[in-house]
Amino acid sequence: MSVVVIGSVNRDVVSEVARLPAPGETVLALGSRTNLGGKGSNQAVAAVRAGGRVEFIARVGADADPGLWKSLLEYGIGLAAVREVPDTRTGTAYITVAGGENQIVVDPGANFRWETDHQLDALVAETDLIGTAQVVVAQLEVPLRVVHWAAARARRFILNAAPATQLPDDLLRRCDPLIVNESELAAFGGVVPHTPEKAFEQARALCLSGVPSVVATLGSAGSVWARRESGYNAVAGAYQPAPRVESVDSTGAGDAFVGALATALAEGTDLGEAVRTATAAGALAVQAPGTHSSYPTREQIAATLPTVPESQPL
Ligand code: RIB
Ligand code: NA
Repeated sequence: MSVVVIGSVNRDVVSEVARLPAPGETVLALGSRTNLGGKGSNQAVAAVRAGGRVEFIARVGADADPGLWKSLLEYGIGLAAVREVPDTRTGTAYITVAGGENQIVVDPGANFRWETDHQLDALVAETDLIGTAQVVVAQLEVPLRVVHWAAARARRFILNAAPATQLPDDLLRRCDPLIVNESELAAFGGVVPHTPEKAFEQARALCLSGVPSVVATLGSAGSVWARRESGYNAVAGAYQPAPRVESVDSTGAGDAFVGALATALAEGTDLGEAVRTATAAGALAVQAPGTHSSYPTREQIAATLPTVPESQPL
């Protein structure tokens, strides 16, 4: 039941404000903090907290402070393939949080400084990291070339297409599932879906165009999933509502969802059931400030599952 996460590590510089500034506007922060983030490291922590055996592949700068390594090691994440790139800074994310909402600007730094495919092959051959993993998870805060590299070598490839960008068909055909939020889904479907039914329609269209499965998260409304079945134009799917909770900080809640989903899928759980587990993890993550420190353990997820509403077939 092992999960390999390949992706970003950022130093998150987080400011809390009463409301998000409009373009051209200056607002005073209520407070600020710096913590470890990046969609890659967040998903690795979420997956290990959810009970997976997790290896992380990432690039950090020569400025990476020992706290970064220490905290990821303490969570029990394998770091053999996290490498320092000389003369580069670790990625930095500038995050503004207002109530449950946030805005993020990422300066990728070392996250965009990877070796050639050939050198990456040599690196994972040492450990046979990717070939033995049940699932490999990637996001789009590293170059697309690296995402392709991972997808081509994974037994089962999971892509969280964040931040949104157009993706080539040969990559989409490997995503099982492709995980997107509403605005990322709109990058494929053209419009932001306002109902679960509309989201499912777009997810279904993606499946029919060759994506093996799609999970679309819809914030507090929950999520939908769709999966290509054998047979002409057959797509299975459901709407998974989320439990009603008070959102304190939604930063990285999507990553909590993805990490928990990856662990469940690595254990052989069916997609619908895995989405239910991930929904519980996401709901728990938004209820506490911060990212890593708010990600639930396997036990906490299990205890919350009964509060997650039944899924509705679509
Ligand atoms: O998904 C949340 C993450 O996005 C933050 O931790 C930040 O680093 C950006 O990558
Ligand atoms: Na949180």
